[in-house]
Amino acid sequence: MFTGRLKTYFTINTAFFLFAGMLLINMVLVKIDQRALVKSEISKGFILVSALENSLRQSLEKKNVFFNSNNKYLFRELLKEAGFNFALFSDPKNKQKYFFGDCGINRDRLVQLTHKAFLTKKKITAFDDSVWGLFWKENRYMIISSPLFVDQKTTASVSIVLDLLKIYNQTRQTQQIVFIYILINTVILTIISVKRFSRVTVTPLKRMLARVEDFREDEDFFLIHEKESDEFSRLSSSLHRMLKQISGDKEKLRETVTSLKKTNLQLKEAQKDLVKAEKLASVGRLSAGIAHEIGNPVSIIIGYLELLKQHDISDKEKKDFLCRTEVEINRINIIIRQLLDFSRTPEEFFRKFSVHELLNDISTVFEMQPLLADIKLELHLSAEEDIITADSDQLRQVFMNLMINAADSIASAPEKVQGKINISTSKIEKPLTHTSVPIQMLKIIFTDNGPGISDADIEKIFDPFYTTKEPGKGTGLGLYVCFMIIDKIGGTIKAASEKKNTTLTILLPFDR
Ligand SMILES: Nc1ncnc2c1ncn2[C@@H]1O[C@H](COP(=O)(O)OP(=O)(O)O)[C@@H](O)[C@H]1O
Ligand SMILES: [Mg+2]
Repeated sequence: MFTGRLKTYFTINTAFFLFAGMLLINMVLVKIDQRALVKSEISKGFILVSALENSLRQSLEKKNVFFNSNNKYLFRELLKEAGFNFALFSDPKNKQKYFFGDCGINRDRLVQLTHKAFLTKKKITAFDDSVWGLFWKENRYMIISSPLFVDQKTTASVSIVLDLLKIYNQTRQTQQIVFIYILINTVILTIISVKRFSRVTVTPLKRMLARVEDFREDEDFFLIHEKESDEFSRLSSSLHRMLKQISGDKEKLRETVTSLKKTNLQLKEAQKDLVKAEKLASVGRLSAGIAHEIGNPVSIIIGYLELLKQHDISDKEKKDFLCRTEVEINRINIIIRQLLDFSRTPEEFFRKFSVHELLNDISTVFEMQPLLADIKLELHLSAEEDIITADSDQLRQVFMNLMINAADSIASAPEKVQGKINISTSKIEKPLTHTSVPIQMLKIIFTDNGPGISDADIEKIFDPFYTTKEPGKGTGLGLYVCFMIIDKIGGTIKAASEKKNTTLTILLPFDR
């Protein structure tokens, strides 16, 4: 394709420049040729003038007149024979002027020139009028004026006129042949040049192109035979070097990619180990928490049971101890229930359900609770898709925990303001990592206008048993349970607190 275009380009250019060059040379030649022709016509004119001079001198000597009918005829014949069109003969002594022939020349100018030749006693060559020659404008008439001497005295003068148009017409005729000749020459020379150019340039280029296209990394790239031009040999070896360099670079790149993959794998392994360690640590922390949180009420219960075993206690005291024991048992019960919340459903029992429906349902239930009586609850459920796969009871637990926390926070504010909880949803595209494809996720945001969380505390709120609430009110397990449930679904939960607004953002995957 490329070589085809190159060939056409070369052909057109060569043909054009050859044709233009030959035409230019031809123009110069025509000019030189015409000038030579005019010169020869001038010499012819001078000879004619001499002949006229002789014949007129004889006539004057014999008959004492320049012209009689006889030599007038002779004069005309001579003029015609020499190819001249027109003549003016002036005899100032007898104040006579004779005109011969016919042409469109300005007669006043002719009379002037004839008179000038008589006065200056010199031959004059002049041109008059213009006409289109072959390529440009040329002189139309050539005038030769000359004095006539009889006994070495100027007695009269003559002017002869030649119409140069016939010379131009002659050249025009020959030029037609020359033009055809130039055309044929252009074609032949172009064909020869293109053939030569093809052999020297296009063919090696084609071959080189084919080799480059078929090039495989494991082979050598050498193309040009010794006889081919030096430039192509150089180009070939440069290409060879370049291709070698490229395949070397590719090899290096491949090695780098392999080592990167290996490092990535190692990193992933390390990350897994870390997560495992973190999980173990969190289990440890949880166990310690459970031991502490359950251990305390258990020792209190044991204490009361010891007291109850004694015989000398009143019924009132017995009742009081039993009530206190019940409180402690309830505390243990709540903790156990909350811990059960996230460990209940195995993944294979997850079902598809609408998150919007669940949120609407929770909001109606909540509006009837005294805890939320003074709080304005706003729902902006604008996600275009809301069906996810999970255990809906667990997710209900998560949403309830978040709402209770928000309500608790609003209630704990030192100065009373209109409490507001805002719940909004949207569908977002979240890239997992920079290499993986982005996945669709449902974003749920809980915002409240409570007093907020300090930067130091926000780090700890997902820890088990972390609570700022008074004993008996908070267990510190709510957000921990939320975190575990969301993590099991494959989502994330994050908290942010800015001035007086706390935001908890949950991302849940649509496809699992
Ligand atoms: N919306 C909120 N605004 C302010 N603080 C909050 C909010 N949600 C949670 N917290 C803080 O995080 C702590 C842990 O919460 P959570 O795990 O639910 O336990 P609990 O509610 O039993 O205290 C809370 O004690 C509270 O200090
Ligand atoms: Mg809570």
